[in-house]
Amino acid sequence: MNSENYISKIWQRGIFENRVVFCTGGSGDICSSQVRALVYLGANACIVGRNKQKAERVAADIANARPGANVLGIGNVDVRKIEALEAAVSKCVSTLGGIDFVIAGAAGNFLAPFVQLSTNAFKSVIDIDLMGSWNTVKTTVPHLLDSVAKYPGAGDYEGGRIIFISATLQYTGVPLNTHGVVAKAGVDALSAQLAIELGPRGVTSNVIAPGMIQSTEGERRLFRNSGIDMVRRVPTGRLGTIKDVNNATVFLLAETGDYVNGTVQVVDGAAWRIGAQVTTGVEYPASVLVEPKILKL
Ligand code: COA
Repeated sequence: MNSENYISKIWQRGIFENRVVFCTGGSGDICSSQVRALVYLGANACIVGRNKQKAERVAADIANARPGANVLGIGNVDVRKIEALEAAVSKCVSTLGGIDFVIAGAAGNFLAPFVQLSTNAFKSVIDIDLMGSWNTVKTTVPHLLDSVAKYPGAGDYEGGRIIFISATLQYTGVPLNTHGVVAKAGVDALSAQLAIELGPRGVTSNVIAPGMIQSTEGERRLFRNSGIDMVRRVPTGRLGTIKDVNNATVFLLAETGDYVNGTVQVVDGAAWRIGAQVTTGVEYPASVLVEPKILKL
């Protein structure tokens, strides 16, 4: 893949030399692209995902971004299982020498009205998005603290940085996504807490909240079949690209992010401000006034 498609030329190659990024959801469209950008700029990486073949295939592809890059793809890792993450973190550290940056990106979502949402469905998304993010930081923070000790900063960019991939849905609430909205509100709160609690230890924690990013699973699942011209719902006049998300990622992880902690970087062309994240072609409130036929617990 041509680097111009996923990262701006303004970033200097080599800025992430010797840094290691650990990324959950790393086989997905957005996170794999973030990791590709970091690898292009010098990092090595470990991506984890549920599907083993996919994780290994995507890791091998990302490694093409830079000659000599070391990119590990570990499959069979469900972020809901902290033991699986522990094992992956351990393999990452023993193979690549540590962890300097964490991207907590694994997420699950679908559209369903509250009256058709089972407790298990709600819990599945909370478990993947919120508990998965918790499990990710719980298992990686000790290594981020080592990273801070290794790269104490003082004019240089540091190690010990966390980025959570969240959303904008929770700012207003949206129909058909109670599970996603509640989970992402929790993720935002978790990041803010870590900024407060780990800031004194040299670790930063920030959120990236992508809006409608074209050619991603989120777009396919949540927007593409809505029948709505989504571009007209974005003040900036276009859908987002993975390059937009990657530039925000590099900004937070490079020296440019040294004093940026506890923030939310919204990358959505201001779409949420005009309520653009209503994700169904069916008008509200008809979309939620459906037959509560699956009103099961
Ligand atoms: N509407 C209503 N309920 C749904 C649903 C939908 N579209 N899709 C799944 N569910 C329910 C299931 O029926 C089940 O509930 P039940 O036991 O009461 O029947 C529950 O959610 C769990 O589903 P299951 O498929 O067993 O869970 P899973 O852990 O394998 O999958 C999901 C988790 C549901 C989040 C699944 O969509 C997923 O794995 N997504 C990963 C990728 C993804 O979503 N990416 C989105 C990026 S925006």
